[in-house]
Amino acid sequence: MPSTLAKAVCHLWRLCTRRPLAERVDLSGRKVIVTGASPRSIGYETARILAGWGAQVVATSLRNVEATESCLKRDLRDMNADESKITVHPLDLSDADSVGGFAAWYRRRHEGHLHVLVNNAGTHKNILTPRRRPAATRDGLEVHWRTNYLGTFHLTKLLLPCLKKSGRESGDARVVTVSSHLHDRMENKDLFNDSQGYNSWDAYGLSKLALVHFAFEIERRFGKDYNLLSTAVHPGSVFTNITRSAIPEEMVGVTLSRACSALASLVLFHPKHGAQTVVMCASKSRLQGGSYYEHCKIAEPSDQCRQESVSRALWDLSEDWFGSLVNPGSD
Ligand SMILES: NC(=O)c1ccc[n+]([C@@H]2O[C@H](COP(=O)([O-])OP(=O)(O)OC[C@H]3O[C@@H](n4cnc5c(N)ncnc54)[C@H](OP(=O)(O)O)[C@@H]3O)[C@@H](O)[C@H]2O)c1
Repeated sequence: MPSTLAKAVCHLWRLCTRRPLAERVDLSGRKVIVTGASPRSIGYETARILAGWGAQVVATSLRNVEATESCLKRDLRDMNADESKITVHPLDLSDADSVGGFAAWYRRRHEGHLHVLVNNAGTHKNILTPRRRPAATRDGLEVHWRTNYLGTFHLTKLLLPCLKKSGRESGDARVVTVSSHLHDRMENKDLFNDSQGYNSWDAYGLSKLALVHFAFEIERRFGKDYNLLSTAVHPGSVFTNITRSAIPEEMVGVTLSRACSALASLVLFHPKHGAQTVVMCASKSRLQGGSYYEHCKIAEPSDQCRQESVSRALWDLSEDWFGSLVNPGSD
């Protein structure tokens, strides 16, 4: 059975069966960052749950900082949880100054402590018109690669000292990286060579393949010495702003767009279910690092992700890119 069909059947089966929930853990004293937490997103639900369980959460949003913060605080009040457990800050992963500024602010404000970094923010452009190349980022790079992968690498690199310190002190620090099952569209050779033609699904898939390598490489490099556990996650197929943006009103008209949205909300998971595997990886006490998780359990990523030499080479290449930034934001 072609893999897309197999995935669709598996998704439909999961829709009809019990959806696993992460088990509640007392997270008092844990400091957490969740990137990309705008309302109606996986990051929003992740931040809400982790703060509700007692973690001190700094969430980020690209364009909706105030609305995100007020919604999250309202939800925490509704849960009888402490609303001061959450703050929201602007972050643009595709802008080196924004990433550097956010990391510097965080390090100062939290005295260099960070127990969990949830690398969730991401973008998928031109879902219905994949052959159309979206505008490049300000520094001239392909937007999925720059935002989803390089931006995440940059942020993590700047926060690694905090994660290492907290890992050493508390015995448990984590990086949870939200990838996608679409990582399996691409091959390792595509990470190092420009492919011919453009397809936004391939570009998105490539950034997600890079993120699985990245997650595994963090575990190999820092796992043992710093008690730093690193996992990659596929959250499932979830009805969020990304999926909503696939049905633009201006292209199909208001009525059809609403009908498609209603249908999509029936056949895709709610964000609170999409957040469960991410929350589990961020909180469960005994968890295996260096693994790929889906549906709250370990799953198999594509064979490509297991080539350690590729993970190493990609990390080194990304370090070179980081070194080339005029102002990377290091101390
Ligand atoms: N939904 C799915 O079915 C699905 C499946 C597999 C993987 N994923 C992954 O899950 C993660 C969360 O996505 P989602 O479905 O929850 O989508 P979403 O609702 O669009 O949330 C994405 C978040 O990332 C933020 N973001 C976008 N561009 C950014 C940038 N340049 N810098 C910093 N933040 C940025 C968005 O901020 P604004 O809202 O302010 O733009 C938003 O908060 C993504 O990594 C996505 O690839 C989703």
